[in-house]
Amino acid sequence: MSEIKKRLSSILESPTHHMTDKLQKICHLLDQEIPYFNWTGFYFKNGDKNELILGPYVGAETDHTVIPFGKGICGQVAESGETFVVPDVYAQDNYLSCSIDTKAEIVVPIIKNGENIGQIDIDSHSIDPFTQEDRDMLEWLCGEIAKIY
Ligand code: SME
Repeated sequence: MSEIKKRLSSILESPTHHMTDKLQKICHLLDQEIPYFNWTGFYFKNGDKNELILGPYVGAETDHTVIPFGKGICGQVAESGETFVVPDVYAQDNYLSCSIDTKAEIVVPIIKNGENIGQIDIDSHSIDPFTQEDRDMLEWLCGEIAKIY
C-alpha cells in the first residue's frame, strides 16, 4: 500500500474522529501532499432531493454550496455514478466555475450499497495534471469512505 493510502487509512480508521472530522482531515492531507490538488472537497446528496450539498473542503470559498443534479461536473457525476476527469475545464460546456484559476477537475463518486451518495471533487490550477495513479487512489478512497459512511 502506498504511503498516502496508509495515511488515509489511519484517518478513516481513527475511532476518535467523527465522519465530518475525518473528511476534513482527508481534504487537508490530499491538499498538503499533492501540489496540483488546489481545491479538495466533498459534496453529498441532500436527503431525497436531487441536489448536492457542499461538505468539508480545503481551498478557496465557493459559491457552489448547492448543486442541482445534472449541473456542472459534480451534478453530472451525481447522475452517472462514474468518475469524470476533466483535463481542461474550458473545453466543457456543462461546467460550474469556482475560481478563475481552476484549469482541470476530477470528480469521483462515493457509492454505498449501489447508491450514489456523494463525491470527492478536486480542482487543479494546472492543465491535465491528474494521473491514473491519482484516479486509482481517489476511487479506492471513495470505496473506503462508503464502507464507513
Ligand atoms: N466545478 C464544479 C463545481 C464545484 S467547484 O469546483 C468547487 C462543477 O462544475 O461541478
